Amino acid sequence: MTFDFFLSCGLCKFGPPNLHNMEKNKIDVVLGLQWGDEGKGKVVDVLTPSYKVVARFQGGPNAGHSLKWGDDSFVLHTVPSGIFRENTISIIGNGVVVDPVILQEEISQIETKAGDITERLVIARRAHLILPTHRMLDAASEAAKGKSKIGSTLKGIGPAYMDKTGRNGLRFGDVLSPSFRDKYEALKKKHLDMLALYPGFEFDIAEYEQKWLAAVESLKRFKFVESEILVNNCLENGLPILAEGAQGSMLDIDFGTYPFVTSSNTMTAGACTGLGVAPSKIGKVFGIFKAYCTRVGSGPFPTELFDATGEQLRQVGREFGATTGRPRRCGWLDMVALRYAVMMNGVTDLIMMKSDVMNDFDTIKVATSYKVGDRVYDHLPYGLEEEVEPVYTEFPGWKSDICSVRRYEDFPEAFKNYVKFIEEQTGCPVRIISVGPDRSEVVVR
Ligand code: GDP
Ligand code: IMO
Ligand code: MG
Repeated sequence: MTFDFFLSCGLCKFGPPNLHNMEKNKIDVVLGLQWGDEGKGKVVDVLTPSYKVVARFQGGPNAGHSLKWGDDSFVLHTVPSGIFRENTISIIGNGVVVDPVILQEEISQIETKAGDITERLVIARRAHLILPTHRMLDAASEAAKGKSKIGSTLKGIGPAYMDKTGRNGLRFGDVLSPSFRDKYEALKKKHLDMLALYPGFEFDIAEYEQKWLAAVESLKRFKFVESEILVNNCLENGLPILAEGAQGSMLDIDFGTYPFVTSSNTMTAGACTGLGVAPSKIGKVFGIFKAYCTRVGSGPFPTELFDATGEQLRQVGREFGATTGRPRRCGWLDMVALRYAVMMNGVTDLIMMKSDVMNDFDTIKVATSYKVGDRVYDHLPYGLEEEVEPVYTEFPGWKSDICSVRRYEDFPEAFKNYVKFIEEQTGCPVRIISVGPDRSEVVVR
């Protein structure tokens, strides 16, 4: 797979004007700065016309990335969020873990709207497969944790990454090997032995396994590629690439609220390992955050609200999981976590989402530090699970509907003050503001 492939796909013509100052031969990154669900899908969809290639670099079908255009909408789980923009190639990168059943179903649904995408989607040979037994292991392990369960999406993410780092995993490249079925059976046997260690956990994978094997066959119509070569070829040839993250920085396996995290590196560094690009090739880092905070699943959330304000955020913001439908926990913007995420990701441009959800608020609060006992922290302490009391700064609400605003100067002063405060606190410019779920509801500064 070379640059010719892109030329043959008619990808040499460029789309609408750039929303960013593209640095030639660099890859730009979009990622979430909070606990996931910041609006990455929408942002990637909005930015894609400025790119030729969009590549997912980690996570798997635990992600749910929502897009909306007019009366149409879609939730993507594995396929990159640029797929509905023509003249763009989508790559499922080596850092992603893929459930063939979920991917196959997703592709079928996409094709009812976008037509045949065989030539527009490629899959990394090095991407690992989520087996039916990975899902069972996820479920068994969560059930065994009882009260301290992580609140996993139960898509088999943890067990699949465990097999990857344990050097047992199966990859897309294996699918084409004559010994694939033997390798599959050997790994399944290992998993069944492990599942026997969970007494009382009952399961039946027969039906899912049939669907899984059929999905693997059907995905063979796509090109399985050395995506690291493809990505680096694109960079050498000056084709603009956007890397799409899943989850959020506070769910990062190393720097998130461990153990209540996912099993991959969700930060900029994950784009390097998840696609095979050198750190020096990273261009812009678009860090996405909601104007407040949400979290789904268990784990520390210092600014969580258990009152009517939290419920208002959930109802107005429609904060229900795009993958599992679970109600999301809601709270005020957490500047301690946001500053940490901006630092750890090397964010160059902030993108603020869902401020319209707070249109009716009299007062808006932002946590600027934490108190733990007598100590005040302005950075994330190691033991976030201890009793943490947020120290808040209060702002008057803008008390007006900002959904129809399309130019920054037209925002109310109270809103601009809120943005200015965030920029001062993070040392980073807020370049894009989203004021509704639709791809048109966006203000670019
Ligand atoms: P992702 O996982 O980061 O892609 O985010 P999700 O799709 O899981 O959740 C974001 C939700 O917010 C989706 O339902 C979006 O349609 C919606 N959304 C995105 N941006 C905005 C916005 O600016 N305002 C409002 N009201 N909704 C938004
Ligand atoms: P997107 O890409 C929000 C959370 C789960 C759970 C923890 C571990 O849509 O932002 P896992 O399934 O990885 O074992 O779950 O991480 N989680 C997410 N929360 N958005 C996501 O993805 C998430 N993916 C995983 O709720 O707490
Ligand atoms: Mg989501």
